[in-house]
Amino acid sequence: MQNKSLNDTYTPSEDTFFFADCMANESGDSALEIGTGSGYLAKILQEKFSVVIGTDINYSALISQDYKIQNSVCCKGADAIKKEFDLVICNLPYLPSNEIQDITTDGGPEGLVIPLEIINSAAPCVKQGGKLLFLTSSLARYETLIEKTRSMGFSVTILAKKSLFFEKLIVVQATKLFL
Ligand SMILES: C[S@@+](CC[C@H](N)C(=O)[O-])C[C@H]1O[C@@H](n2cnc3c(N)ncnc32)[C@H](O)[C@@H]1O
Repeated sequence: MQNKSLNDTYTPSEDTFFFADCMANESGDSALEIGTGSGYLAKILQEKFSVVIGTDINYSALISQDYKIQNSVCCKGADAIKKEFDLVICNLPYLPSNEIQDITTDGGPEGLVIPLEIINSAAPCVKQGGKLLFLTSSLARYETLIEKTRSMGFSVTILAKKSLFFEKLIVVQATKLFL
């Protein structure tokens, strides 16, 4: 995970491209990307889904997207979205940090605080039988993230891992149970 400067738009990077590979087979009616940034991943989703919405907490990222998407909403997580989707994705800001200095990468203590806020807000937006895919890393307490997601009514597996020089990228797939 890298970035060009503090609070700037996240430049599509190794994690973005790995995530794109992991969601290559996904298709359906509706998809939501939380933390869409440049729009790179949401733009790919637009080819496979009829309705795609991207959210980001960073308004300036949304208005200056290199990969302009049709529907974008500036909000925390999915807080402003009152709809259920077939697929929800998020390339999380997962780096462990004492405070949030760079919103594109910093996840707070243990790389858990912001990811948990995002997953909590994403959970009601996933249809029963629908999927939540998120990217985290071996640098974060990803096992805790998986357990918490399970407790929200999802069946959770690790979809893919990729070793980089200093960390492993981890894409988690959570399927919402019919309860
Ligand atoms: C790692 S970047 C991913 C950007 C892009 N999706 C990609 O894969 O290249 C994380 C993105 O999440 C956004 N973000 C951070 N905290 C957020 C929050 N609480 N709610 C919504 N978006 C958030 C950041 O502004 C940033 O665009």
